Amino acid sequence: FADAIVDAPDRPWEACGNCHGVDGISATAHFPKLAGQKRAYIEKQLRDFRSGLRINDNGQMSGTGDFPDHALELAAAYFSQLSAPSPESRENNNISRAKTIVESGVPKAGVPACRSCHNGDANLEPWLEAQHAGYLAKQLKDFKSGVRGNDKVMADIARRLSDDDIEEVAGFLAST
Ligand code: HEM
Ligand code: HEM
Repeated sequence: FADAIVDAPDRPWEACGNCHGVDGISATAHFPKLAGQKRAYIEKQLRDFRSGLRINDNGQMSGTGDFPDHALELAAAYFSQLSAPSPESRENNNISRAKTIVESGVPKAGVPACRSCHNGDANLEPWLEAQHAGYLAKQLKDFKSGVRGNDKVMADIARRLSDDDIEEVAGFLAST
């Protein structure tokens, strides 16, 4: 199947590589790593950018706005079958709190364990491991402020996290 994707004549993922890396490992936190991300999740994000449901990209994803379905599907399939990135080096200081939030949540604040959803089970819950810390923190802040409006559950969770918790959790996940 992977070979069939790479041989697709229009290779729609090549344009994506300018920002996300053709190996799906982008160079800066401004652009998310896509390598090994779940295929259905990538496809949903592409559809959400295209429809305007997700608009927190400062217009940089707008090039995909006129992509036909088959191009979105091919690009998602391409990036999802690349080898996942290696963890980033650790930058945060409060590993134990971040680890607790990820594994057990913050019951007092009504925050569920991130791991209850972000695991290998469901196709629409993205991998967060080894993603750029700065990208993860931006997503959580964008969910919290409502700038990223394409998931109500994550918005509700992000609103219950302090900005410090967001930075710590993002740093922990990036280095995991
Ligand atoms: C975000 C795919 C082209 C810039 C994303 C996401 C996906 C994606 C799936 C969301 C990732 C996630 O939620 O983890 C693609 C594909 C492309 C493409 C398949 C080609 C068809 C580009 C190009 C640029 C770009 C050419 C730069 C001009 C960005 C930025 C974000 C993003 C800045 C993050 C926005 C934010 O902070 O939330 N892209 N992309 N993308 N992409 Fe692309
Ligand atoms: C998306 C973090 C808990 C379901 C995301 C993203 C981040 C994140 C950073 C965006 C990833 C990206 O753009 O690549 C967290 C953290 C959690 C947590 C830190 C714990 C504090 C949960 C829980 C659920 C969940 C408990 C399920 C009830 C989802 C879903 C998406 C998502 C479905 C994709 C939303 C979309 O389609 O755009 N999460 N999450 N998360 N999360 Fe969570």
